[in-house]
Amino acid sequence: MKISKNKLQELLKNDKYPRSAKYDPEWVVKGWMGPNVLWLTEWLCEKMELKPGMRVLDMGCGKALSSIFLAKEYGAQVWANDLWIPAAENWQRIKEAGLENQIFPVHAEAHALPYADEFFDAIVSLDSYQYYGTDDLYLPSFIKLLKPGGQIGIVVPGLMQDIDGPVPEHLMAPRQNRSTFWVDECWGFHTAAWWQRHWSKLACIKDVAADMLPDGWKDWVQYEDACEEAGTLIFATEADVLKADAGRYMGLVRVVGRRQ
Ligand SMILES: C[S@@+](CC[C@H](N)C(=O)[O-])C[C@H]1O[C@@H](n2cnc3c(N)ncnc32)[C@H](O)[C@@H]1O
Repeated sequence: MKISKNKLQELLKNDKYPRSAKYDPEWVVKGWMGPNVLWLTEWLCEKMELKPGMRVLDMGCGKALSSIFLAKEYGAQVWANDLWIPAAENWQRIKEAGLENQIFPVHAEAHALPYADEFFDAIVSLDSYQYYGTDDLYLPSFIKLLKPGGQIGIVVPGLMQDIDGPVPEHLMAPRQNRSTFWVDECWGFHTAAWWQRHWSKLACIKDVAADMLPDGWKDWVQYEDACEEAGTLIFATEADVLKADAGRYMGLVRVVGRRQ
């Protein structure tokens, strides 16, 4: 760590997320894979009803920080499913957290999941669903893993307004390492209204509600800046572009619903 734990704690202070504030800040920033996943999970869970013993699929869990949060905060049993991070690496983190009887790491691709239909009480997905879930055909097959009436909730990077013409210049400006913030996979970012329509047109889901995190870009920047100072970013910081954007286009979208 390039800075002290106290300094890091100060940089991560955000009154919107009291549950997340209890976690070791060094552990949190070492788990960097995008916007602060504990904050995203805490915000998502405001709209979900999670109870002890529920079976929860954490889809695209990355380094399983959200799975650990769900197990600790809500007593859920969590299947920590990811593609890029090996299950053995997550198992190590799960054991270190003392949650080996509550969290089960699985390495599986989103279109080849090894679970029984109707197995889960709830599915969550943080900063991951945009990689595979924008296809109209994805949700109807994925949601079968939920019991009827089971809850699904995602948080994804998204757009405050649609991009109809060319990508705004500030999102395409070359950064220090010459890469651009906006790459083709960013076309998986959509507005809350887009997600609302994407899910609620389907017969397999009910009670769909999509919204944007108020000032989400500020929380995203705060976390990027803290990780930059701590030296835990793996890629070039996105903070400069997010600051230039100032919430005009980039934000964080939450979408929840229940299986019919
Ligand atoms: C940006 S990371 C976020 C990880 C974690 N949820 C977090 O917020 O820290 C996106 C995650 O989605 C997962 N992912 C992307 N495409 C996937 C796919 N086709 N099947 C399963 N997981 C996928 C990756 O393995 C990766 O860990």
